[in-house]
Amino acid sequence: MDTGSREIEVNLTVNGKKVTVTCPANTRLLDLLRDYLHLTGTKEGCGIGECGACTVIMDGKAVNSCLVLAGSADGSEIITIEGMEKDGKLHPIQEAFVRNNAIQCGFCTPGMVMSAKALLDANPDPTEEEIKIGISGNLCRCTGYKQIVDAIKEAAEVLRRRTA
Ligand code: FES
Ligand code: FES
Repeated sequence: MDTGSREIEVNLTVNGKKVTVTCPANTRLLDLLRDYLHLTGTKEGCGIGECGACTVIMDGKAVNSCLVLAGSADGSEIITIEGMEKDGKLHPIQEAFVRNNAIQCGFCTPGMVMSAKALLDANPDPTEEEIKIGISGNLCRCTGYKQIVDAIKEAAEVLRRRTA
């Protein structure tokens, strides 16, 4: 029996908006976001949970959306890179990436930013080691990581100042 072609209904809150999608049961969360909701900021690199390009935040935790079946995300709250901007302004993490030249080709950037957000939401004052662990599931073939770690450090400071 081909269970993958069975259609299911998935209800999610994505970037603050409630959505209902009908899709085959074997649809990944990554495909639901990109193909059904046209949120193409989330990237597919490896498709097997190794590169982190597909990272989104699901119920407060960074997940590889290529490894999550859309059906198992039913009822969840998802934040993607498109949900980071507010009132036409980049999120402080995105601004810090720009300021620190933490972007070259940019393919890893959405996933990096989402991992950084999950880290800073849980731990607003991380050590350099904690930042490295926080993005250890995200591969970048361009920057050498230093600028990314510097950007996350700077973003943490900016966010702490805002809430002080
Ligand atoms: S595309 Fe999901 S981890 Fe690489
Ligand atoms: S900026 Fe190119 S992969 Fe990270």
